[in-house]
Amino acid sequence: MSDGSSFYITTPIFYVNDVPHIGHAYTEVAADVLARWHRQAGDPTWFLTGTDEHGQKILRTATANGVTPKEWADRLVATAWQPLLKTIEISNDDFIRTTDERHETNVQLFLQRLFDAGYIYTGDYEGFYCVGCEEYKQPGDLVDGTGQYEGVQVCAIHSKPVELLQERNYFFRMSDFTQPLLDLYESNPGFIQPESVRNEIVAFVKRGLTDLSISRQSFDWGIKVPWDDTHVVYVWFDALLNYITAAGYGSDDARFAELWPATHIVGKDIARFHAVIWPAMLMAAGLDVPKQVFGHGWLLVGGEKMSKSKLTGIAPNQITDTFGSDAFRYYFMSAINFGQDGSFSWEDLSARYQAELANGFGNLASRVVAMLIRYFDGRVPDAVTLAEADENLRALEHRVVAEADAAIERLAIHEAIGAVWQLVDELNGYITAQEPWKLAKNPDDRPRLEAVLATAVHGVGTLAVLLSPVIPEATAKLWSALGGVGEIGEVPIRAAFDWQGSGTVTALEPLFPRVETIEGAA
Ligand code: ME8
Ligand code: MG
Repeated sequence: MSDGSSFYITTPIFYVNDVPHIGHAYTEVAADVLARWHRQAGDPTWFLTGTDEHGQKILRTATANGVTPKEWADRLVATAWQPLLKTIEISNDDFIRTTDERHETNVQLFLQRLFDAGYIYTGDYEGFYCVGCEEYKQPGDLVDGTGQYEGVQVCAIHSKPVELLQERNYFFRMSDFTQPLLDLYESNPGFIQPESVRNEIVAFVKRGLTDLSISRQSFDWGIKVPWDDTHVVYVWFDALLNYITAAGYGSDDARFAELWPATHIVGKDIARFHAVIWPAMLMAAGLDVPKQVFGHGWLLVGGEKMSKSKLTGIAPNQITDTFGSDAFRYYFMSAINFGQDGSFSWEDLSARYQAELANGFGNLASRVVAMLIRYFDGRVPDAVTLAEADENLRALEHRVVAEADAAIERLAIHEAIGAVWQLVDELNGYITAQEPWKLAKNPDDRPRLEAVLATAVHGVGTLAVLLSPVIPEATAKLWSALGGVGEIGEVPIRAAFDWQGSGTVTALEPLFPRVETIEGAA
């Protein structure tokens, strides 16, 4: 049905009840690095992100602010969510809003098809609902409240009381998919990643699925159920469909067949929606399940998941204003094992900025360019005779490219950066050992100086190409100083070691200037 030859990658579509914090930015950057890598490898790539605008949570926020939910969503998208993408250099190909006509129409089409196929029936929902999660809750999902909620049961995620719903709703026969889902997880072990998330979800589904209420009657901020306009579609059912409505489902079958299925990057908090409800919906509609669902870890503050509702959110520009977007991207992608939780601290960010970006990579690039200018008027020596140490570095360039590409294939972004960093460290060690500044003093050593700087600049160019998906700004500056041919983002990344230069380098400003004050540091 679909060829799956494209690399179609998505982030969650985020709720517009509030502005983004670094947790949302983290997901965006991870998906962006993967998208940029694949694009640069020449794989047909499509990167989708967007916003989730229906449901009670947004309706209540808008009402509290005295505007309509659509006005609220428009405002937040224009002033916060779209600008976030610029702040951290996100290269998305599309931005879907669940209030887009292309989405609403095709959600209705999907629902009608499920209804016609007999997967939807009328029933009574009586139970708990957390508006923060926009999720129906089982008693086992609740915990004892503390502080002002002492003595009541609260949502384990939001630490706030849940609501008791009693509504006549439409239900999706999700229970029919318990076994098909278990079969999917077994036949395709990579479907849910990482392992910890997979195990939790398999255990959950093994306990048996219940049918899912997919409509609400008590408010009207949502997509109308096509055969009954007294109901709106349950916000998660609506939201999950963004991944196919944006890809041409219902509107452009050829495009949809080319793009679908997608790799979904989500936080582990919503992995269950993506790895259980979503594939069940797709199976019911006779469509392919996603290629993969990756539930990454949480950014923690004081040991707890950073969140707006708990007032622990840090705005991305608090970091980028001081350190720049490259540092933001590099820090979160390299310091945290993708898939595990990570604690953010200003001290750690600042220390890694200085040690790894400024001293490790930036300084290496500056020194090599400066020596080429000083000793060769900016001309890159060619036709050099390579010694063993030089050949070893060339071989390492090849190895690192292969290792990094394999890591990206596994979505192990931190491992890809780790692989590339071997080259940063080896090049720094090489320059220390070869002492080009000493070679420059003796005319007899001129051929050796040529070989050393030719080798060093070759490695630096390969680094620029490999790091371009992670730190696009700094590598673009470096590329231009190196006289790199073409746009760096278009240099084939799987052949980074074959990059071409004009043969002349020009002065390079420090890529990662010293940061004097640390904004927000306690
Ligand atoms: O759940 N650490 O939207 P949402 C890491 N609209 N990532 C975090 C994070 C943290 N502390 N906090 C949030 C929704 N995130 C739905 C999604 S998709 C069809 C609908 C990131 O605004 C992470 O990606 O609550 C998490 O899954 C997402 O934000 C939740 O965003
Ligand atoms: Mg949330």
